[in-house]
Amino acid sequence: MLGDFTYHNPCRVRFGPNALDELPGELAQYGPKVLLTYGGGSIKRTGLYQKVVDALAAAGKTVFEVPGVMSNPTVEKLREGCRVARENDVDLILAVGGGSTIDFAKGVSVGAWADGDPWQKYYLDMDSLDNRMIPVGDVLTMSGTGSEMNGGSVITDHAAGLKVGRVFGPDVMPRFAIVNPELTFTVPDYQMRAGIYDAFNHICEQYFSGTDDNTSDYIAEGLMRSLVHASRIAVKDPTDYEARSNISWACTWALNTLIACGKATDWEVHMLGQAMGAVTDATHGMTLSAVSLPYYNLVMPYGVEKFARFARVVWDVDGAGKTEREVAEAGLLAMSAWMDEIGVVKHSRELGFSEELIPAAVKATFILDGGYHKLTTEEVEKIFRQSL
Ligand code: NZQ
Ligand code: ZN
Repeated sequence: MLGDFTYHNPCRVRFGPNALDELPGELAQYGPKVLLTYGGGSIKRTGLYQKVVDALAAAGKTVFEVPGVMSNPTVEKLREGCRVARENDVDLILAVGGGSTIDFAKGVSVGAWADGDPWQKYYLDMDSLDNRMIPVGDVLTMSGTGSEMNGGSVITDHAAGLKVGRVFGPDVMPRFAIVNPELTFTVPDYQMRAGIYDAFNHICEQYFSGTDDNTSDYIAEGLMRSLVHASRIAVKDPTDYEARSNISWACTWALNTLIACGKATDWEVHMLGQAMGAVTDATHGMTLSAVSLPYYNLVMPYGVEKFARFARVVWDVDGAGKTEREVAEAGLLAMSAWMDEIGVVKHSRELGFSEELIPAAVKATFILDGGYHKLTTEEVEKIFRQSL
């Protein structure tokens, strides 16, 4: 293990088919005014909306709503949410949905009482939190981002061509998360696959850094093996509860700060994917799958030892008679075959990305240095080109 770290995640997770029964107990801990926020309407179609509204009514809450949180929530939506929360002085924000709705809720949590524009202050200037925050709780309907139990909040400014993720600390992490894997059964197939790849990549982003012997890596390998195993079942039978529940739990732990402990962490695939998302508005997990192989093939030579370990431990590659470099390459081939098996996008042109958009995407890409190789601008461009 390297360095000093603090692990603190205050989120209480209520997991399982009966998890929603715990919502009244959670609601009782907050004041009377609740901002209920959700996406484009899936929760109304599934009947979840009515159940949540009934629980809020039974708890005697006054409810204000911000519906219509889009995938990849925008600055305009963030500002609307902040205005509603502030005007009504709400005591709790209850987000019912996937990563977009929960990320949005966290943006409103910090932004509602901010002095000035929340996007400028907390996503562009990256100011430290210096104002009152509104507690957030969530009912998760789609697994992938880990937003249900972390401090991440990703907001998009289409006009500026920017998609920015801010990772807030424990003060902003949801206080509670209701995670019932059965609620994910209705997630469209494309989104389910995107969510699985998103979580897998969250683990990779933390794993592919450092050369020390680190407990976090062993946990990461277990999570990857579980996710790969369960995903193979879920793509064939999306209502297999065992597989979907393991996916949900693995997604939560993939990005709730645990496996980042003692790690430098990479996150460059996310920087590339977010830039692609900023210029296309494509589904997050699919932007990651589109840039992953060009990126990992490029950086693998700088971290051969770790990529060879990944091959052996996660993909059961038999290294007999092979050089470490060959083992590492076999691991990436195995990952690529699994990506085909679960059906994620490998060509960014399927996401509306094109040669013409490359300069804007390059401009929108933040280059980080926690992984095995810090990219040059030319390499960023090359990866985008290869992703087509
Ligand atoms: O909007 P509704 O109608 O609810 O439909 C959603 C949306 O169209 C639908 N859906 C969700 N649950 C459903 C369902 N449809 C039927 N039944 C259900 N049970 O699925 C679509 C996608 O939902 P969304 O919330 O956009 O997906 P996801 O959870 O992948 O979130 C994506 C956002 O999270 C950010 C991404 O950048 C993106 O903006 N991320 C957040 C992170 C974090 N907080 O740490 C980390 C990630 O790396 C990621 O960047
Ligand atoms: Zn992600």
